[in-house]
Amino acid sequence: TVGLQIAIDGPASAGKSTVAKLVAKQLHYTYCDTGAMYRALTLAAMQAKVDLHDEAAVLAILAKITISFKPGEPQQVFVNTQEVTQAIRQPDVTNNVSTIAALAGVRRQLVQHQQMIAKKGAIVMDGRDIGTAVLPQAAVKIFLVASVAERAQRRYAENIGKGINTPLAVLQEEIEVRDKKDSTRAISPLTQAKDAVLVDTTALSIEQVVARIIAITVEKQ
Ligand code: C5P
Repeated sequence: TVGLQIAIDGPASAGKSTVAKLVAKQLHYTYCDTGAMYRALTLAAMQAKVDLHDEAAVLAILAKITISFKPGEPQQVFVNTQEVTQAIRQPDVTNNVSTIAALAGVRRQLVQHQQMIAKKGAIVMDGRDIGTAVLPQAAVKIFLVASVAERAQRRYAENIGKGINTPLAVLQEEIEVRDKKDSTRAISPLTQAKDAVLVDTTALSIEQVVARIIAITVEKQ
């Protein structure tokens, strides 16, 4: 069967990338983590010490870098030749990324890059605006949500494994702040596409969520 486009959107730490990767693996589709692109630019801008609200300065950084992915497990993320897979997950990048993601010029260019990647064939893409802006024609659109308490708990467990010790209450606050910024920005804010299927993962296992998305996809094939 021909490959479809699967768009997975939702708030921070809802498990989008975890399930997107597994769905892609099971269907032999390409996986594109669009959040990693915003994170990579944020890291590059922070390293260059530019004001993250200064669109011209941030765009000058974007013009100088190439963000790329190297397939594998885990998939690696590069800024030019610098491998940034871990660095872009650090709390300082996480807490700054929504500022960069609100800049119109940044979104225009990263969305173009994402649409080019999607042209190559069957793809699972996750982010905030995939179903609404990047791939509005996607055959499968999923809006993945979970309670903020559950999302904070999941992020906490994930962080402990990485040696990051941010307290649970702080994580919950950071998730709420990021969701608010992402949902209220002027350009393609986080919102459920009209034709997206809402999947609440609060009480579901990763396997159950993956099975649900595969079932929805098989129906469309
Ligand atoms: O998905 P992840 O948490 O890695 O995304 C990091 C940030 O990148 C989000 O909080 C949001 O500000 C931004 N983003 C976005 N549009 C996307 C993907 C991510 O604005 N499609």
